[in-house]
Amino acid sequence: MRLTPLVTLLGVFLAWATYKIYAGFRSNIAKARKTGYPVLITPIYPLSPLWLTTRHFLLPILTRLLPERLYASYVFVMTPDWEYHPSPRSHFTRLGSDTFVVASWNGLACYTSDAAVISQVMSRREAFPKDTRQYGILEIFGSNVVTTEGQVWRMHRKVTSASFNERNAGHTFREAVRQTRGMVGGWFSSSSSSSSSSSSSGSQEEGTGRREGDVEDMTGIITTLEHDTMRWALNIIGYVGFGLKLLWPHESMPKDMDPKLAKYGSLQPPYGYSMTFADSLATVLERIVILLLIPSAVLKRIPERWGSWGSKLHEAWEAKVNYSKYMNAFLAEKVQDIRAGVQEREGMNIMGQLVRSKYDPSSSEKNDGATMKLEDSEIMGNAFIMTLAGHETTANVIHFAIVELAMHPEVQRRVQRDIDAIFGRDSDPETWDYEKSINALLASYIGAVINETLRLIPPVVVTPKRVADTDQWVQDGGQRHPMPAMMPVMPVISAVQRSRRYWPALHDKTTKKGDTDDLDEWHPDRWYLPSMSQGQPSSDDEKGEGKQQQEENYGGYQGTDTSPTLFRPVRGSFIPFSDGARSCLGRRIAMVEMVAAIAVLFQKYSVELAVDASDEEVQMMVPEQRRHVYAKAQEKAKETVQQAQSVVTLKLTGGRHVPVRFVRRGKERFMGNEASC
Ligand code: HEM
Ligand SMILES: *[C@@H]1O[C@H](CO)[C@@H](O)[C@H](O)[C@H]1NC(C)=O
Ligand SMILES: *[C@@H]1O[C@H](CO)[C@@H](O)[C@H](O)[C@H]1NC(C)=O
Repeated sequence: MRLTPLVTLLGVFLAWATYKIYAGFRSNIAKARKTGYPVLITPIYPLSPLWLTTRHFLLPILTRLLPERLYASYVFVMTPDWEYHPSPRSHFTRLGSDTFVVASWNGLACYTSDAAVISQVMSRREAFPKDTRQYGILEIFGSNVVTTEGQVWRMHRKVTSASFNERNAGHTFREAVRQTRGMVGGWFSSSSSSSSSSSSSGSQEEGTGRREGDVEDMTGIITTLEHDTMRWALNIIGYVGFGLKLLWPHESMPKDMDPKLAKYGSLQPPYGYSMTFADSLATVLERIVILLLIPSAVLKRIPERWGSWGSKLHEAWEAKVNYSKYMNAFLAEKVQDIRAGVQEREGMNIMGQLVRSKYDPSSSEKNDGATMKLEDSEIMGNAFIMTLAGHETTANVIHFAIVELAMHPEVQRRVQRDIDAIFGRDSDPETWDYEKSINALLASYIGAVINETLRLIPPVVVTPKRVADTDQWVQDGGQRHPMPAMMPVMPVISAVQRSRRYWPALHDKTTKKGDTDDLDEWHPDRWYLPSMSQGQPSSDDEKGEGKQQQEENYGGYQGTDTSPTLFRPVRGSFIPFSDGARSCLGRRIAMVEMVAAIAVLFQKYSVELAVDASDEEVQMMVPEQRRHVYAKAQEKAKETVQQAQSVVTLKLTGGRHVPVRFVRRGKERFMGNEASC
């Protein structure tokens, strides 16, 4: 009989829980229906933190245990990466709507690939603030411009945006040229130093039968493209964020290097450190998920000898400790310099500028009080977040652009024609003039290659927003859709950028395998089609207007980088850098880095996919046979790119890679027109 109270309590609890769930469903389904968009009812809320951390492991179990008809209609929103896999558009197409709402008992979420809805959400910041609940964890080194909202964000944005001006974009252009040459130098030096270079894992004959002199014409098979472009972007961000000149392993330190900076730019860990600055930063960025999930106090105690995971976790902690020490030293030295009246070196240096704006009394005319409020931890938080925001994103776009160019040799010819026209085939990239050439570069086929890569494989797939604390609405055609307070709203970048509503198709072809939507294909030619008129202004038209409307300038590049004859996407349909007040602060810098890299690479070289044949075999082939081996490599590369996953950014994971080779121009073996030559 003593059990009775317990049983009663349990009964009451169950009744209460059932009621809570029932009432939650009722209210959320009603709110979702009121929006006028299709509603998916899910038993588990797909954005719940508990689900997000356990779904990788729970989803396969649940789908095995339960009959398919119970979950078939909504399981996709429960699946990691559904915004990209297997096709970004299929779910919107199936639901017959570019916007839908998910309702569960404990939450709502709206997903949209409708350009009109997206542009409203992105331009009305007060009505649709950033959903910063999903970002708090990115504050490991201090709060910053990415993770905050409201007044605090305004201050961060104001202080940090001072660095993003045209002068610094020019400095970044020159550094990007230098770093790209460093990257190519590494590929050619490793292929000439030994015939079986570390990167060649492909065909066995590789290098063995190669004659002297050929070595210079072609690199070995590069399997490390993703790693190398990451290092490329890291070295540039080291410059953008900290004013450093980071080196490639085969480079040596310039004699005029400032000894203080040498500590950070060194290829060996300096005294007191166990990692170089670049490695500590690279490791922190690479292991960011571990550092976000496991507290330092725990990580610190995990012994290295616990197998590969032990050393991975330990290394993450070691990197964090070393990186923090570098940051503290950097801050202290900078403050010392300022106190001693040392003049600032020419160049971009976000962290240096933040320190200066706080500690330099002589720069006080720029201080309108806002800068004084930045804590040291916020300076470090911002410096760190710039590296996080600007590193993988840029690296992945360049990585995929090179891979797509390798898959499309004929596009390389167009790119090279434009580079020759802008810079000349034999000019020295160190002499390239940023101001004279940047707009031509951005409006050329090189710009189209970058745009098309950003359209098809955007590094940031979703930018989470939410409805403000009070109910809002969006206008869609002639209709008003109520949006309930606090509901997360997710613009799905990957999906709107492939929508037939906003993008013209080049060729509407049907392949042997069935329907291939032209918009799932990479064709830079698309950027030369006439613009579609939707009765909506294009993204570029509205930039000027938007500026006046907002009456406030949120920093970052405001101008256009376009020519009127190019394709102009409808506003909200091309948003790789987001849009509105919270759009990417580094957009201009990123575009500048990326076009510089393509220009340097393709002025003197072409890229080929590694084929399944030795160099000698290729030499003996007739054009038709070459076309055939290349087509096989193209197919394989395409499959690999489709396996990209969004882990922080969209990229190839789990050791997947597309092997390529760089060859000197004029020495190409696959020109894209083998059959006809
Ligand atoms: C191809 C390269 C890049 C892409 C595709 C990209 C994309 C984006 C996107 C989509 C956002 C909005 C994120 C959100 O709302 O959740 C964003 C924000 C931001 N990005 Fe980038 N980004 C790139 C490069 C860079 C670079 C090089 C930097 C800095 C050096 C940078 C700095 C920032 C910052 C500071 C923000 C936050 C702005 C704010 O919230 O006010 N990004 N970026
Ligand atoms: C870097 O990490 C190592 C290993 O944890 C540690 O012994 C060393 O003190 C760290 N260096 C600095 C400067 O904190
Ligand atoms: C790339 O996209 C931007 C943004 O819409 C546009 O202004 C620019 O003209 C495009 N560049 C090219 C070469 O198509």
